[in-house]
Amino acid sequence: MAFSFLTQELAMDLGTANTLVFMNDKIVVDQPSIVAINSLTNKLEACGIEAKRMQGKENPNILTIRPMKDGVIADFDAAEHMIRWMIKQANGNKRSWFTPNVKIVIAIPFGSTDVEKRAVKEAAEHSGGRDINLIYEPMADALGIGLNVEEPQGHMVVDIGGGTTECAVISLAGIVECESLKTAGDVFTADIQQYMRQQYNIKVGDNLAEQIKIAVGAAISDLETPPEPFDVIGPNLITAYPVKVPVTSMEIAHCLDRSLAKIEALIVSVLERTPPELYSDIVKEGIHLTGGGALIRGLDKRLSEKLKIPFSVAEDPLKAVARGTNLALKNLSKGRLCPYLMR
Ligand SMILES: Nc1ncnc2c1ncn2[C@@H]1O[C@H](COP(=O)(O)OP(=O)(O)OP(=O)(O)O)[C@@H](O)[C@H]1O
Ligand SMILES: [Mg+2]
Repeated sequence: MAFSFLTQELAMDLGTANTLVFMNDKIVVDQPSIVAINSLTNKLEACGIEAKRMQGKENPNILTIRPMKDGVIADFDAAEHMIRWMIKQANGNKRSWFTPNVKIVIAIPFGSTDVEKRAVKEAAEHSGGRDINLIYEPMADALGIGLNVEEPQGHMVVDIGGGTTECAVISLAGIVECESLKTAGDVFTADIQQYMRQQYNIKVGDNLAEQIKIAVGAAISDLETPPEPFDVIGPNLITAYPVKVPVTSMEIAHCLDRSLAKIEALIVSVLERTPPELYSDIVKEGIHLTGGGALIRGLDKRLSEKLKIPFSVAEDPLKAVARGTNLALKNLSKGRLCPYLMR
């Protein structure tokens, strides 16, 4: 492409837990959405995985911030720092003598208000973006899964992210029904912390609780191939002496039960409002699970059994939104009509 160095095209999934950026059809950034700010100078100390390593280990001069909450910007300055850093990472951290024209497609939750949409666009503009388009996350999910979204056919995607779970029905390149819930990955992590405290008197930090979830997280107690128990070491709340307990997937299935039941109820509520023709398409095709929460072992099985509709986990569910956003960007660049994009 002639003069392609003058324009730079990025697709961005600005998630509560993770930010992914595609450039030239490749993932160039895949980092936790966390920044570390020096509170004395107000400068960016670290971002992404480096900032995540500082979490829970701060001193009074270093503050770690998660700029996104419930899928939208909660801390504008921190979000701007983060987007600027991500754009720089996409460029291989190089300084260039000219500013390229940065065209960006950013995925946002369906429930975003106009003020929240404007905040995302402004943060991206302040960070160097010029031509900014938005796409709703469930639509990006559907594109990223490879569904034919423009057909008159119903599809259902359930994205269980860090901050929110969004359940949407898609047909004719639009969102027919969508509902979201603030019960998602972060709440699962909090459920595990509470369980460890109540059951074992152990205080467990955010990062360790997330490790437990990834190692032994489960949605059913009778997994066919359960993972090995995970050894948790932490301070006993009463004695402050270190204790070690092996935690099993069966226990975690029990401890996540209430949160998972809320997600079930969300799906049922959206199904109830789905027009019958679309409903039968969905039952035939099955429901697609995406987002990091879809990786909870046995979740597809639990939901299939409870709702009597087949559920499947999307390939690489953590990247579905970013893949779909990248597809939308490519279609936009080819000059195709993209009814699912907003400016
Ligand atoms: N293997 C796994 N098992 C269970 N949970 C996981 C696994 N891997 C990641 N997660 C969880 O998935 C969540 C992050 O998912 P994802 O990246 O889809 O969220 P996000 O897009 O950043 O958030 P949101 O969409 O709510 O803005 C985190 O809570 C993380 O702990
Ligand atoms: Mg997400």
